[in-house]
Amino acid sequence: MSDSVVKTDEKKQHFDDIYVADSPVPFKEQILDALDYVSDDFNRQTFDRLILPWAQQQTADGTPLNFVDLCACFGNTTMATLYGMDFQAIRHNWRDRESALQIDAERRFPAHVSAIDISGNALAYGKAAGLYDETVEADLNAPSPEVRQAAEGAMAEADIVISTAALVYLEPEAIARLLDAFASKRGEGYMLVNFLNPFALEMADATKRMLLERLEFVGSMASRHRRMSALEQENYPGEAWSLLEIWVLRRKG
Ligand SMILES: C[S@@+](CC[C@H](N)C(=O)[O-])C[C@H]1O[C@@H](n2cnc3c(N)ncnc32)[C@H](O)[C@@H]1O
Repeated sequence: MSDSVVKTDEKKQHFDDIYVADSPVPFKEQILDALDYVSDDFNRQTFDRLILPWAQQQTADGTPLNFVDLCACFGNTTMATLYGMDFQAIRHNWRDRESALQIDAERRFPAHVSAIDISGNALAYGKAAGLYDETVEADLNAPSPEVRQAAEGAMAEADIVISTAALVYLEPEAIARLLDAFASKRGEGYMLVNFLNPFALEMADATKRMLLERLEFVGSMASRHRRMSALEQENYPGEAWSLLEIWVLRRKG
C-alpha cells in the first residue's frame, strides 16, 4: 500500500504497515500496548448507552441485524461493540497469533457482520477468526465500479454502522457516497463514528457537516483515544494524549 492510496494527516503517525500485517499481533503490540490505545473502552461505552438496548430489543426474536464495520481493520471495535470486550480483553485475546484466531467472547445480539477495508490481510484475519461474516476489500477513495457497488450495497443494507478512527482516511466524496447509501434505507438505523483530536480538524468539521445533513444526531461523548507518538508530540508540543469525540447518529424518518 503506498502513501498515495492511504491518506493520513502528515502530522499524524502513519501505521499503514501494521494494518496490512497478516495478524493483529503487531497492531496489539505497537498500537494497543505501546500507545495505550484505550479508545475501544469508550466506543463500547457509547454503543452500550445509545445503540445496544435498541439492538437487543430488535433481535429478541432471533432475527439478525446487518452490522457494518467501515474501515474495520482487524476488528477491534467490532470486538468492543458487538462482543462487549474491553481494551484489556482485546489485548489478551490478541496476545499471540494463535490465540487471536479464536474470539474469547460471544456476540451480544444476532448480527450479520460485513467489514470493509483496504487491507485484504486484516479482512482475511477477521473472517478466519469469525468476527466477519462478509468482507469487502476496497480502496474507498478510488474503488472500481464493482467494489463501489459492494461497499455502498453493504451500507444501504446496514442497520448499524461503526466507523472508528476511520473517516479521517477517506476523501469527502467517498464519505458522501457511503453516507448517502446508508441514509437511503428505510427504517431505524444507527451509526457510531468518532473524530480524533488534534489531527485534521477542518476535515473532521467537514465530515460532521456531511453527517448532520443526512442523519439525526443522537448523542456523543469525549474521551481519551491513545497516547501521542514521539513524532506527534513534536508536531503538537505539550499534548500527551490524542482525544476522541464519539458520536451516534440515527437514520432520519
Ligand atoms: C486506525 S484503523 C481503524 C481501526 C478501528 N476501526 C479502530 O478504531 O481502531 C484505519 C483503517 O482504515 C483503513 N483504510 C485506510 N485508508 C483506506 C481506504 N482508502 N479505503 C479503505 N480503508 C482504508 C486502514 O487499512 C485501517 O484498517
